[in-house]
Amino acid sequence: MTVSEILRKTGHKDVLGVELLLAHSLNVGRERLFSHPEQEIDSMELQVFQDLFNRFCDGEPVAYLVGKKEFYGLDFLVNDSVLIPRPETELLVDKVMEFCKEESGGVRILDIGTGSGAIAVALAKNLPRARVIACDISAEALEVAKENAQMHGVADRTSFVKSDLLANVEGDFDVVVANLPYIGEKSNNFVSKETLNYEPHVALFGGDDGLDLYRKLFVQIVGLEWRPKLLLGEFGFLQADAMRELLNKYFVQQGWSIEKDYASIERIFVVTFNGD
Ligand SMILES: C[S@@+](CC[C@H](N)C(=O)[O-])C[C@H]1O[C@@H](n2cnc3c(N)ncnc32)[C@H](O)[C@@H]1O
Repeated sequence: MTVSEILRKTGHKDVLGVELLLAHSLNVGRERLFSHPEQEIDSMELQVFQDLFNRFCDGEPVAYLVGKKEFYGLDFLVNDSVLIPRPETELLVDKVMEFCKEESGGVRILDIGTGSGAIAVALAKNLPRARVIACDISAEALEVAKENAQMHGVADRTSFVKSDLLANVEGDFDVVVANLPYIGEKSNNFVSKETLNYEPHVALFGGDDGLDLYRKLFVQIVGLEWRPKLLLGEFGFLQADAMRELLNKYFVQQGWSIEKDYASIERIFVVTFNGD
């Protein structure tokens, strides 16, 4: 059987997913499927593809099946200990990059809830003078993040700390960025079956309304002896009003804003501290 015959035969609606699985089974880049559609597939490759395809049809995410996901133009290793990085999270990286353009000198950045290290590593890679500390409550996630930092050549400027929010984090930072779990257990629980079945729940759920970890983080930030210049984080669909209330409660004296993602959904908060 040839590449083009397999692609035609599966008839799956997620064409990109099938292409990624086939390319992975053949150990080639996806573009090779189109430059060599007539390539014959041997029985072993076919078996590998068939096994992956069956798991894919049962709902297992492609990123876990192929062990990687692209984020901010970089490939990240992923496994079922880490959330699969989402495209909308790239907005957080863009915002930090924008802020850092104005800063002279190397900035110190703290990424809370680093998971695969997507935000931390993308920032370290694109800001060669920055120092990044990445923390997570999950030791397994930190192992993945470390591998990603090594793979992208930024391990010398990136440190990893196992910590419940700021509990074990030392030092002070110019930027604190967080993509904490924000799915609610009672309300705001918009989550697909695939995500629920396969992604780690520690990366998904943030209490009854999803915002418990942000509440806890804001209390910690307010109690610090130092202030970041910038604090920003991602939240979920329909949580913007609840987030506004929290920002007014904890950061009424600072400038803050809520910004929309590229799909026009309110998605991130940005708090700017003025050296107070
Ligand atoms: C939504 S995922 C984000 C992962 C990654 N930053 C990204 O954007 O793809 C949230 C991460 O926060 C971590 N986490 C959950 N509770 C935490 C806590 N109390 N302190 C630190 N990290 C926590 C989870 O293990 C998970 O890796």
